[in-house]
Amino acid sequence: MAKARTTAFFCKECGYESAKWTGQCPSCREWNTMVEEPVAKKASDRRAVVREGVKKTARPVKLSEVSIEDQDRISTGYRELDRVLGSGIVAGSLVLVGGDPGIGKSTLLLQVCRNLAADGHKVLYISGEESLKQIKLRANRIGEITGELLFLCETNLDDIEEAIRETKPETVIIDSIQTMYREDVTSAPGSVSQVRESTNILLQIAKGMGISVFIVGHVTKEGVVAGPRVLEHMVDTVLYFEGERNASYRILRGVKNRFGSTNEIGVFEMQEQGLSEVENPSEYLLSGRPKEASGAVVACSLEGTRPILLEVQALVAQTNFGMARRTAAGTDYNRVNLLMAVLEKRCHYEMSRYDAYVNIAGGVRMNEPALDLAIVLALVSSLKDRPVDPKCIIFGEVGLSGEVRAVSMAEQRVREAVKLGFEACILPQVCLGKMKKVEGIRLLGVRNVREAIGLI
Ligand code: TYD
Ligand code: MG
Repeated sequence: MAKARTTAFFCKECGYESAKWTGQCPSCREWNTMVEEPVAKKASDRRAVVREGVKKTARPVKLSEVSIEDQDRISTGYRELDRVLGSGIVAGSLVLVGGDPGIGKSTLLLQVCRNLAADGHKVLYISGEESLKQIKLRANRIGEITGELLFLCETNLDDIEEAIRETKPETVIIDSIQTMYREDVTSAPGSVSQVRESTNILLQIAKGMGISVFIVGHVTKEGVVAGPRVLEHMVDTVLYFEGERNASYRILRGVKNRFGSTNEIGVFEMQEQGLSEVENPSEYLLSGRPKEASGAVVACSLEGTRPILLEVQALVAQTNFGMARRTAAGTDYNRVNLLMAVLEKRCHYEMSRYDAYVNIAGGVRMNEPALDLAIVLALVSSLKDRPVDPKCIIFGEVGLSGEVRAVSMAEQRVREAVKLGFEACILPQVCLGKMKKVEGIRLLGVRNVREAIGLI
């Protein structure tokens, strides 16, 4: 009889399993991602069990027989988080929260637990990273905890499963999937097969018992959740918690959501007493803006359904070397290069003689093409050393021939500007034609970059 295999090779990216090592993963074509790990003992009769289960429960139904009840969604107590989740937590959903260490994932989830418990929900917070003492210290900072919020420090998933079955909470937090392990998988916690198998168990718990499970995941240097990509495919919702270490605001970004739109963001601020919501990020991002400074303009970017005003800064200075330096912070470097080439070719500015530094103030990252026109005008304003009217906002996409192209949801952007007291708006002419009239703001439609430069 052939000896049973005890190890196999797994792809770190996609979780593909192979009997022998290969340099390139046959499934996702990534190089050097195959690692050797012990294989889990397969339950041989699992298929049979599943088949039986299917026989019992699977019955095709008409969509009209399915009821959608509003109370299926539970509010987290934070409007910012609810919006990213798609108006609240869905019972039986699996949510992955990724982010750099120390960004505030545990703090956010603990605060959510506190809100849920205060609302009369039963919550179980399982930490594999911190002791009960450490959790208590953090809890003391965020304020009083009332209601049924239970804590468990455990990393063995079989024990965790038992605890969940016993306590029957409505929501479970798993603080870091990378610390969890199953005994029948012999590789170390955090490895590809452990993460995959652990998530599988949690998936069954969530779907089988209708419990919503939040999973904390660490991210790698490249900024993706550590572990195989299948992790992201298995869960319903993937949220990234991001922000600069030295700035106090944090952005929660939805990158996958089976229950709502993605690309929604929630903005929080880290304070002494934990995280607090920032209801009006535009005001926040524009605070401390220099008035009458050249090279600074206000742009409007759309995050999901939400217009956010932000300040685009540019500094253009004569270059001292043969080759001009360019940097872009908070936006796409190549896009900035492209826009400078457009200025050079279509407007005859000798940009190659100048260094250029572009920055989105406040440390946020925005890559929307609607920022193009603002970047172009910030560059020109700095080059000519002429400030742009501080009561004017700018948005529009710039094409390669210097034309200003339409952007989506122009009206919402203009309304946000009116709300914050702006008096003028430079926008694509095409958008102006399609828009309803907005009171209290002068709308200046432009067809190309040259027209826009003429206006400032
Ligand atoms: P934490 O939630 O432990 O991060 P993660 O779980 O993502 O690793 O966040 C810890 C950071 O937050 C730490 O640097 C201290 C800071 N913090 C505050 O500034 N105020 C607070 O009230 C709390 C609880 C943490
Ligand atoms: Mg933590």
